[in-house]
Formats: sequence, C-alpha cells, structure tokens
Amino acid sequence: MISDPWYQWAFRVMGKQAVQIRRPGKEDWERILEILETANFHHIGGREMPAFPLSDCFVAVADGRVIGVAGYRILDDTTAKTTLLAVDPEHRRDAVGAALQTARQDFLRGRGIKTLYTNADDERVIDWYIRRFGYRPTGKRIAKVEPFGRADKSEWINLKVTL
Ligand SMILES: CC(C)(COP(=O)(O)OP(=O)(O)OC[C@H]1O[C@@H](n2cnc3c(N)ncnc32)[C@H](O)[C@@H]1OP(=O)(O)O)[C@@H](O)C(=O)NCCC(=O)NCCS
Repeated sequence: MISDPWYQWAFRVMGKQAVQIRRPGKEDWERILEILETANFHHIGGREMPAFPLSDCFVAVADGRVIGVAGYRILDDTTAKTTLLAVDPEHRRDAVGAALQTARQDFLRGRGIKTLYTNADDERVIDWYIRRFGYRPTGKRIAKVEPFGRADKSEWINLKVTL
C-alpha cells in the first residue's frame, strides 16, 4: 500500500504546504517525540502507551521536516486500534491530521481490517472523528491509568468505525 504512488507524491494542502505521508525511520524518532510532547503523548514505555513501534506509524513531512505522526496496532485479522495521532501545533488546521488518519485507515483496510477502535479525550477531536471519518462512540469510557493527553480529562472516550 505504501508503494502506492498516492502516498509518494507530495500533495498540496490548503494551497500552503506540500505534505508527504511516509513511513518513519529511526532518525525521525526524536522529532516524533517532540511532536507527541505537544499533546502530552510522549510518555512512551509507561502504562498508557507501553510501546509505539515505528513500524506501525506514518509521519507527515513538509519541507523535509516531520510535522505529524499517526500510529496503529493490529489486534487480530479484522480488528485494529489507533495508537497516537499528533500534529505540530504550528501546522494544525491544514488537513495534515486528516491525511495521516486517511493513510492509516487505508493501510489497515488494505490489510483486511474491518473494525478500527480509537480512544480520544478531546471533544473537538471526537467530533472530528465522527464528522469526517464516520466513527461512532461505543459507549465505553476508559479510565486513564496515569497522566497522558489532556491533563483535565481522566478518561478516554472509546470510538469505533467500520472500514
Ligand atoms: C487532532 C489533530 C491531530 C488534528 O490535526 P490537524 O492537522 O489540525 O487536523 P485537520 O486540519 O485535518 O483537521 C482539523 C480538525 O481538528 C478539529 N480540532 C481538533 N482539536 C481542535 C482544537 N483544539 N481547536 C480547533 N479545532 C480542533 C477541528 O474541528 C478540525 O476539524 P474540521 O477541519 O472538520 O473543522 C491535532 O489537533 C492534534 O495534534 N491534537 C492534539 C493531539 C490529539 O488530540 N490527537 C488525537 C488523539 S485520538
């Protein structure tokens, strides 16, 4: 799927910046952590996010610089969960997040995944997943086990979409 030319071309977002979606390499890790930190998502290895393997991520790149990251975890043949999604605050609202979400959904659909779960703690982000990607709340709320994401939210809202 990643060799698909669609992901290789640099496409224009809002007429402002050329953004490429690609797989990260080890050399991107420090920058990825920097971006995750802007959302308080950088506590990798803790109980909320024990691992964030680069093999299961996409990054968005503009002018040779990583500006966003999105991960996933395959749970079984037809089920997956998103892990983390964050965009550099200086590049938000330019559809970079949508490009990353679309890339991971397309990849997972290509792998035969039918059901994708996502946990989110921000009302505007939850609304975005519902409006733009067709997610529905499952009704499940998951208590955070340590500080992660928004400091003022103690639980995750569980969402689900059929790919
Ligand atoms: C969620 C996130 C990745 C979106 O990235 P982005 O590049 O700005 O995404 P897009 O430009 O494609 O879409 C922006 C959408 O975010 C929504 N949004 C999310 N948080 C918002 C905020 N704080 N203020 C305004 N809009 C916000 C907007 O409604 C907008 O939707 P719209 O274009 O349909 O109106 C980015 O806001 C982010 O990094 N947030 C912090 C981390 C986070 O919550 N990640 C999701 C974990 S499940």
